[in-house]
Amino acid sequence: MTELTTDRLLMRQWRESDREPFAAMNADPAVMEHFPAPRSREESDDLIDRNNLAIDERGWGLWALEVRETGQFIGFTGLSVPSFEAHFMPAVEVGWRLAKEAWGNGYATEAARAALACGFGPAGLDEIVSFTATTNLPSQRVMQRIGMTHDEADDFNHPRLPDGHRLQRHVFYRISRAQWEATK
Ligand SMILES: CC(C)(COP(=O)(O)OP(=O)(O)OC[C@H]1O[C@@H](n2cnc3c(N)ncnc32)[C@H](O)[C@@H]1OP(=O)(O)O)[C@@H](O)C(=O)NCCC(=O)NCCS
Repeated sequence: MTELTTDRLLMRQWRESDREPFAAMNADPAVMEHFPAPRSREESDDLIDRNNLAIDERGWGLWALEVRETGQFIGFTGLSVPSFEAHFMPAVEVGWRLAKEAWGNGYATEAARAALACGFGPAGLDEIVSFTATTNLPSQRVMQRIGMTHDEADDFNHPRLPDGHRLQRHVFYRISRAQWEATK
């Protein structure tokens, strides 16, 4: 389970060589448009370390994405456990962040489908959720493409963002095991 393979992608543990390109994408204002701020090199490295620990411990997590044909690192997709309080917690989230050069190829959707298969398969989950700032339409399109559903009543204000922050309002999507089985 530690590594997943799709038609075009390898979803793997993180390597030392990912640190520089990951820090570069986390510092890119286009990639971080729907986040409160770009991430520092230290924060970026810390996320890699936490991802590797999670994948080692549970067999699933936010996997580094590599294009199989070229060996190029392009970002991450996978499963994680949000660390804040909200009406839907406890939950497992499916999420993605790709370098700008990799957008527009269907890579996030392809990897997210593999992450759902891992979550509902070997990981034994019954539901997987996803959420993002209301402004983040590309991310919402990934959620829709992988069969997640949206009920406005579930949308929420992110508790880590102050009232009035441009990103505070979040849309919430979910998919149950039964819905996922129906999409296969
Ligand atoms: C969210 C994000 C991963 C979406 O990337 P994306 O490239 O739009 O999504 P996908 O990888 O699924 O690619 C789908 C696009 O590729 C196109 N595409 C091209 N070739 C394709 C192929 N062979 N297969 C499938 N789609 C293909 C699709 O038409 C679609 O474009 P559209 O949305 O304009 O119609 C990306 O915008 C990103 O990394 N953003 C910054 C980080 C972020 O906000 N993360 C989410 C936080 S909640």
